[in-house]
Amino acid sequence: MQIKKAEYFVTSPEVAKCPKPDRPEYAFIGRSNVGKSSLINMLCNNQKLAKTSGQPGKTQNINHFNIESTQKEKGPVTKWYLVDLPGYGYAKRAQSDRNRWEQMIDGYMRKRENLTMVFVLIDARHEPQQNDLDFVNQLGKWEVPFSIVFTKADKEKPGAVQRHVKEFLDAMRETWQFLPASFVTSAIKKDGRDEILQLISESNHN
Ligand code: GTP
Ligand code: MG
Repeated sequence: MQIKKAEYFVTSPEVAKCPKPDRPEYAFIGRSNVGKSSLINMLCNNQKLAKTSGQPGKTQNINHFNIESTQKEKGPVTKWYLVDLPGYGYAKRAQSDRNRWEQMIDGYMRKRENLTMVFVLIDARHEPQQNDLDFVNQLGKWEVPFSIVFTKADKEKPGAVQRHVKEFLDAMRETWQFLPASFVTSAIKKDGRDEILQLISESNHN
């Protein structure tokens, strides 16, 4: 799949204000600063598309991006949305902000009817974190399809990345009979890009 067009569309403070659900939609979620906005930019080959920051808490609303892709150079165009979301679990943020973000994320996950796949981002540098495991278990309860994306692989030795991936998936096995697709990525080296676009292409029946 080739991305022909990727442009910012609209920012919404809650699911009820999101654009008409008239095409497949793929959303990126994970702890604050895990690399959601950077991954969207990496997938779209445009570093300026979603705003990123070294400080957690950059993305504060639901951001829709218009995407047009093709399978072949002159093939038909498929239209879909990529969605950037605020992160969860940022302890230093005021409780009122955290509550608003949590409600926004929960409402979005439970009510967004064209949500085709959620990519849950996990920092490949760390051992399994309880709030990440809680989040994927919650998605399971809501029956939202998801994949796991391990991020920032370039910042850690390959052996440690592999260990963290295994530990996280092993922790998931305690609750899950079947594991979802998972990817190891680097927004800097573009690792995992082709694989994620391939999954999107396979699940996109627009
Ligand atoms: P919030 O919107 O605040 O929740 O953060 P986010 O998850 O969107 O993270 P963002 O994409 O803004 O990235 C956070 C920081 O991590 C930035 O400084 C990025 O440059 C850096 N970063 C993201 N992905 C990678 C990666 O794969 N490798 C490296 N080395 N740095 C990364
Ligand atoms: Mg962000």
